[in-house]
Amino acid sequence: MATEIELDINGKRRAIHTEPDTTLLSALRDQLDLTGTKYGCGEGQCAACTVLMDGSPRRSCLTRATTAAGKKIVTIEGVAQNGRLHPVQQAFLEEQAFQCGYCTPGMILTALALLKSNPDPSDDEIAQFMEGNICRCGTYPRIVAAIHRAARMMRSSAHES
Ligand code: FES
Ligand code: FES
Repeated sequence: MATEIELDINGKRRAIHTEPDTTLLSALRDQLDLTGTKYGCGEGQCAACTVLMDGSPRRSCLTRATTAAGKKIVTIEGVAQNGRLHPVQQAFLEEQAFQCGYCTPGMILTALALLKSNPDPSDDEIAQFMEGNICRCGTYPRIVAAIHRAARMMRSSAHES
């Protein structure tokens, strides 16, 4: 039976109608029109559907919408602030760390979580943290370069502030 729940998405409260088995991915894309979160495999294998839930990367295709109620959800649409790209987004652009771009929202959100916990990751630490994020276009070396670039940008803006 459908019930109404409230989600906290990108700092805004949004009401949705959900069945017990409605996924967060479906709620985001089909009800809230937040199509930056991508449907890849639908079974937890690619991380194209990654969002942040209370700051941690989460596969929205495996997460029930009801589980997300009461948690802070960030999607790719909520990453830029005040019309300015986040340094991770800027770094992906500058390193051209994508081809088709389908994996990019999930990559960026996972990279955000990585850099929050580790502001200066090594190549190995990046590879380990990003391991579940699949890029079918094979842009991994540029993605690693983008994460290093974003880390430098974030460290230098932290020094300035
Ligand atoms: S669509 Fe969720 S992991 Fe692939
Ligand atoms: S850029 Fe195409 S899947 Fe990663």
